[in-house]
Amino acid sequence: METINWIQWMQNRSSVRTFEQSAIKAETMNELNQAIDAVNKELSKKAYFKLIQSKSKGEEAQKLGTYGIIQGTRNFIAVITTQEEVDALNLGYHIEKIVLIATGLGLGTCWLGGTFDRSSFEEHLALKNNEKLVILIAFGYKKNKQSMIESTMRILAKSDQRKPSSELFLEGDGETTLNLDAVGDYSKVLEMVRIAPSASNKQPWRIIKDKGHYHFYLTRTPGYGVMNYDLQLNDIGIAKCHFELSVFELSLKGTWETTMSAPEISNWTYVTSWLIHHD
Ligand SMILES: Cc1cc2nc3c(=O)[nH]c(=O)nc-3n(C[C@H](O)[C@H](O)[C@H](O)COP(=O)(O)O)c2cc1C
Repeated sequence: METINWIQWMQNRSSVRTFEQSAIKAETMNELNQAIDAVNKELSKKAYFKLIQSKSKGEEAQKLGTYGIIQGTRNFIAVITTQEEVDALNLGYHIEKIVLIATGLGLGTCWLGGTFDRSSFEEHLALKNNEKLVILIAFGYKKNKQSMIESTMRILAKSDQRKPSSELFLEGDGETTLNLDAVGDYSKVLEMVRIAPSASNKQPWRIIKDKGHYHFYLTRTPGYGVMNYDLQLNDIGIAKCHFELSVFELSLKGTWETTMSAPEISNWTYVTSWLIHHD
């Protein structure tokens, strides 16, 4: 891989659902494998990532279905949890980091939380009783022309659009829009959160800057994405990932903490805060 360039990878990433059929270079697979091994160590068996590279063109491969949404690749990263209480916040963070690394390796990716045939994948993975497949990441080389299904999906989810900063980022008690001109390099950090992927592009993250903190909240879409796995808490993990890696790249400093001082906002769930360090 060239040098690490998180912000550029965040800007380059968009979901890819139509892939070239060509095999992935061995060197690229090696680097991806190393990144996956590192995450698996960190997750210490509470969850793990497993590569699926189904080569056969026979019945087995046919069964691994994504309802035609993903075309041209049989490469997936399966995210499997072993816990009753799944830590979707932490998993979202780690999965997105792998997605960004894959982007840096020149691969296209697509998060899949819903549109795949769960039982066929679970059978293929031969999961143990206490294990559950929560997310798949499809990956491969992007094909220039999108399938009809893909372009329709992008239009339906308005995937090329994001909510304006004024709706996502607030200050003080949460009543006022954050003045991005007054936050220095954090305006770039917040922009990287704004462009992050989220399930059905719902962008459920809200951030309030109050004194020395950026407080992260989740505004849930009623009835959405909690059945098998908490997709929207996972989305906050993605936001954390984009925030933290941008902070790191811009040489800003801080730490995550949970604080009682975060304002209470009706219909928003407080998740965590970034405490700004001034050195
Ligand atoms: C947690 C999560 C789950 C997703 N699940 C699916 C899915 O099941 N099927 C799908 O086609 N896209 C899925 N997506 C992709 C989103 O629709 C996509 O990220 C969003 O529309 C924004 O588009 P972009 O990724 O191109 O920026 C998922 C994304 C996330 C973050």
